[in-house]
Amino acid sequence: MILQNAEIVTRDGVKLADVTVENGRIAKISSCPRATKRDELVLDCRGLTVFPGLIDMHVHLREPGFERKEDIASGSRAAVKGGFTQICCMPNTDPVIDNKVVASYITARAKEVGLCKIHPIGAITKGQRGEELAAIGGMKAAGVVALSEDGKSVQNSKLMANAMLYASDFGLKCLCHCEDPALSDGASVNEGYYSTLTGLKGSLRAAEDVMIARELLLAESLDLPVHICHVSTYSGVQLIREAKARGVKVTAETCPHYFILTDEAIKNFDTNTKVNPPLRAEKDRLAVIEGLKDGTIDCIVTDHAPHHADDKNVEYALAAFGISGLETSFALSYTALVKTGLLTPAQLAEKMSGAPAKILGLEGGELKVGAPADLTVVDLNEKWTVEPNKFVSKGKNSPFGGREVYGKVKYTVVDGTIKYEEQTA
Ligand code: DOR
Ligand code: ZN
Ligand code: ZN
Repeated sequence: MILQNAEIVTRDGVKLADVTVENGRIAKISSCPRATKRDELVLDCRGLTVFPGLIDMHVHLREPGFERKEDIASGSRAAVKGGFTQICCMPNTDPVIDNKVVASYITARAKEVGLCKIHPIGAITKGQRGEELAAIGGMKAAGVVALSEDGKSVQNSKLMANAMLYASDFGLKCLCHCEDPALSDGASVNEGYYSTLTGLKGSLRAAEDVMIARELLLAESLDLPVHICHVSTYSGVQLIREAKARGVKVTAETCPHYFILTDEAIKNFDTNTKVNPPLRAEKDRLAVIEGLKDGTIDCIVTDHAPHHADDKNVEYALAAFGISGLETSFALSYTALVKTGLLTPAQLAEKMSGAPAKILGLEGGELKVGAPADLTVVDLNEKWTVEPNKFVSKGKNSPFGGREVYGKVKYTVVDGTIKYEEQTA
């Protein structure tokens, strides 16, 4: 296959080139056009931009157990439609991914579906109950790429320290959802002006920050790496920035909703704005953007959290937390960060592909000869409107409905095979 006349996004910036794919890998990147060979598949990429295949290291696929919300097949379709060639799925399923059997099931089912690459993330504790460590060695052998208790934090600090030690013995990192439940205590939104206005129960930034601080201090004391999930507070960004400055091996992620929306979005009680951690204030949104710019926040993930309409069509306090994000993440990020001049295309590629690959030790994340031909081909000039009811994900729960964005995924190529092609009809 050859992708002709493409603007390709590399570490050094954007340049016009042809990309030759052979045996599932990038065989050649050339600036001078060459004659195409017989039987060669030619993708005319004039006016299109090729990014290294996007990688989302924080996705909820809901299978096994919650297939009404999403399953591996529907989640994979949403991923490739969103331009993702690799995704990592969180273990808060039923049963929980806390042993090699469930982990192997995920990898086997992902191969059967055969769209994007799917890497399971194992739970830190058995059943995510926070009592005893899960069977980490077996899960590693079955393909988990990290450990996480996502949805909550491991409350017992000694157990968390042990988790970091055991994880490191198996070459794994802990991805930490940071929340002190005594402080968040059943709240639905951020504590502030809009919680007062709506009468909805609010949660302090400290509910997130105290746990970010604990994970940073544990990692520092043990001299081990740690990754902070979905950073939403200005104070959390500052804690991570300071930890990085003194050499703590910390990496961090955020999501499009934290750098685009604020808690003002909750004022109409739209339960699609209910997410954990909650949408914060403008001060936080700006700090998250600053963190992305100065490298404090390494990557952008979706925290794709699809829910059934029945879980959202209830009063705000009772609604499930989460946003269905795979099909909008690239365009939202491109529009908010690159169109505005805050990041370059190469920096966006790093946040959405290079950094996640490095953090988890995955192959890919860069357009270079010899790398797997995982490619995301987009039209950056195409403007479109987000229509959640047209999502292929089962989760239509998005607060971005009606929003105009730039950047349309045209093809998603995984190991040299086209796994998604935009249907124009
Ligand atoms: O909003 C969220 N949804 N935050 C989480 O931590 C969990 C996730 C889910 O599983 O629905
Ligand atoms: Zn989480
Ligand atoms: Zn999550």
